[in-house]
Amino acid sequence: MLTSKEIRQQFIDFFVSKQHTVVESDTVIPRNDPTLLFTNAGMNQFKNIFLGEIEPKELRVVDSQKCIRAGGKHNDLDEVGRDGYHHTFFEMLGNWSFGDYYKKEAIMWAWELITDVWKLPKEKLYATVHESDQEAFDLWKEHTDIDPTHILFDGDKDNFWEMGETGPCGPCSEIHYDRGTDYCGVEGEHDCRVNGDCHRYIELWNLVFMQYFRNKDRSLTPLKMKHVDTGAGFERLCQVLQGHNSNYDTDLFVPILKKISELTGVEYSRDEQGVPHRVIADHIRALSFSIADGGIPSNEGRGYVIRRILRRAARMGRLLNMKKPFLYKIVPTLIEIMGHHFTELKEQQEYVEMIIKGEEERFNLTLDKGLVKFDEMIEKTERTTLSGDNAFMLYDTYGFPLDLTIIIAEEKGYIVDTDGFEKKMQEQKERARSASSFKVELDNKEWTVLGEDVPTEFLGYENTTVEVSIIKYRLNHDNSVMFILDKTPFYAESGGQVADTGIVSNDDFEIEVSEVKKSGEQFIHIGKLKSGMINDKKVTASIDTFRRRRIASNHTATHLLHAALKKVLGDHVQQKGSLVTADYLRFDFTHFNGMKPAEIAEVEKLVRAEITNASLVETKLMTPDEAKEDGATALFGEKYGDVVRVVSLSNFSKELCGGTHVSNSAEIGMIKILSESSSSAGIRRIEAITGEAVYNYYEKKESLLNDVASLLKAKHEKIADKVQQLIDLNKEIEKELKTIKSQAAGSEIDNLISSAVEINTVKVAAGKVAIDNSNELRNAGDTLRQKLGSGIGILIAEIKGKVSLLTVVTDDLKKQYPAGKIVGQLAEFVDGRGGGRPDMAMAGGKSIDKIPTALENVENIIKSF
Ligand code: SER
Repeated sequence: MLTSKEIRQQFIDFFVSKQHTVVESDTVIPRNDPTLLFTNAGMNQFKNIFLGEIEPKELRVVDSQKCIRAGGKHNDLDEVGRDGYHHTFFEMLGNWSFGDYYKKEAIMWAWELITDVWKLPKEKLYATVHESDQEAFDLWKEHTDIDPTHILFDGDKDNFWEMGETGPCGPCSEIHYDRGTDYCGVEGEHDCRVNGDCHRYIELWNLVFMQYFRNKDRSLTPLKMKHVDTGAGFERLCQVLQGHNSNYDTDLFVPILKKISELTGVEYSRDEQGVPHRVIADHIRALSFSIADGGIPSNEGRGYVIRRILRRAARMGRLLNMKKPFLYKIVPTLIEIMGHHFTELKEQQEYVEMIIKGEEERFNLTLDKGLVKFDEMIEKTERTTLSGDNAFMLYDTYGFPLDLTIIIAEEKGYIVDTDGFEKKMQEQKERARSASSFKVELDNKEWTVLGEDVPTEFLGYENTTVEVSIIKYRLNHDNSVMFILDKTPFYAESGGQVADTGIVSNDDFEIEVSEVKKSGEQFIHIGKLKSGMINDKKVTASIDTFRRRRIASNHTATHLLHAALKKVLGDHVQQKGSLVTADYLRFDFTHFNGMKPAEIAEVEKLVRAEITNASLVETKLMTPDEAKEDGATALFGEKYGDVVRVVSLSNFSKELCGGTHVSNSAEIGMIKILSESSSSAGIRRIEAITGEAVYNYYEKKESLLNDVASLLKAKHEKIADKVQQLIDLNKEIEKELKTIKSQAAGSEIDNLISSAVEINTVKVAAGKVAIDNSNELRNAGDTLRQKLGSGIGILIAEIKGKVSLLTVVTDDLKKQYPAGKIVGQLAEFVDGRGGGRPDMAMAGGKSIDKIPTALENVENIIKSF
């Protein structure tokens, strides 16, 4: 039987024999495409080749792409675990033609591989083609020996592939495999059909003939060239080629399921009962790969999807009686299966396990609280529907993703008002939006158009002032304005670097720019119209160069810091986020423990040395491959064929970066790390300042030092000695004070005893004392008790604005007059309560003004015993 490893390799080898070049899988977290939650198809990394934006280096490539479909247009989350072939994470094997071969070869080769190399029985194979694609139909018929009655036409839903709402697309031809009537799964009268509604036929491979671009208005524009994008579901191929019924029976999953059984003590079963095992086995793959590629559970965007996947898996763990974190323990098994091909898993093992474990721990806490809340909610619900408000509360306060609430509700026989939930979500989004400063939204109706709608060209690497044109703008009543330029020196907020600010003006008007954001290929400048009225004449766009220099200094320093951290702490240090502003820089990175002071000092020293070295900052444009060969950091996530910008400083630092930098490290002047702290599990955060800011920082320190020196009337060098003397003196005084106080308290107590009265023949000494802390009060109580010989002592003191009561009773009397009871009754007179042992007890009260009343009542209380 072929192993999964062999199947992947045979696919690649087959296309290499057809002159394809092997390309690595893109990361599963898209780095440069905020519109995409996850890499959800092999074609993501080739999108700009399809669009004709860049030239491909090779015309034919082959790869195995890691994909996640758990949100957005392609979302398989709900199917996972219920059938044997839908996954959140899966591999897609693909062969690609960039303007080279087209339909004929794509069809012939797919058929050759499946029937000649892999020898799948031809009578079980079907091909579908788009209803408009007679050409593909004919090619199947003429160039393969498929049974012609097995070539079927179908509509857009299954035979027209689109990336998303917009983007490259085209008709496609799918290859399906007939698993036999046993797999149908539908009860009663039923007609099994390819692309029908049963499980008999499964799709193995999709051959997409890319030739259009889908526009926002749904119309299609032909691409410059025609391309081939194929995607074969790797796990399904393994199922069929290994002769199994389910992907979960292949060698990709069996060891994982075994591990889950071993950890939970619950045997895996292939039927409905095995859903939790299957969901966990699926989800651990999505989690491990997404985290290894830089994803992290959080409350928004893709981070939230990762959190949801983890929570679903943890929840399934509960069904298998697991209350403690255990998902992370499955990671090593996954690495055994896949680590040889996807080495990033192995490299990041420790980190991946730590993130998963931490998140499991957090979730277990919320889950317990949420489940209690859930039960309360359904107790109060008469109908069998959980309201949208309740579902939203579980989401918002207890971190229950909606799908989790649905699962739990189903288990208890409830359904969830999902519309109501969505409504609440929408309301929350509206609130968040109206709270944010300036809404950036492109809506052509509201723009005043002055010129041709072209991408904005960024000239800010070399220029700070440029003559340019406003393409379009949008002006509000309060003179706030957004506009787009054809060219600009303004850096738009990206890669952690804040935007430039400055002025855009001509003789007729002036705009102060405060923010710049990217929207696709254009830069949106946001600001205030200060004078005049915007017109279509040329404008001068100038950035605040002083501010830019400070930003550049912080950005270059961030690179030096990154490199120094790697050198001091080790290669596991990976950038997890950064913020570069004019005032300071922030850098988040993976590291397990807090940094020691000596490590921070070492990092600072390395960066300082590099600043003093006056290294030239060089920027070069190259392909990702060249950059990788050159040893640049942070390479992953670049799309194949991209041109990347590599910023390097001598041999010290080499990073991919689109930001603006100083031209020589000496311009940074100085660096100072202000803090090192934890940002989230496994991620540390450094905040630092450079240049003038360091000078200002030390100047403030110096002025503080001057203030202290003048208070102490000492020179700076003598300050420490002087302070030490003061501390010693203070200690001595405290000691003396303590003696004096206890003497005073002693004489107070003596006075109390000498003015003691007899009540019921018992000696009672009661009174207010000038004591201001409870320890001393207790000491005074002890002394009083000793000195009394036989009797009851009551002390009342004002401590921190409240009343403190203490009662002591000598051993001969404590049975009849328990101190705890006396103090309790006494406390009621000062609006308080308390109690304690029969020989000594304390109480507190609120009302200082009622102390005399309490004292007046001592006699009555004692008499009542
Ligand atoms: N783009 C197609 C898919 O994702 C084929 O690779 O199914």
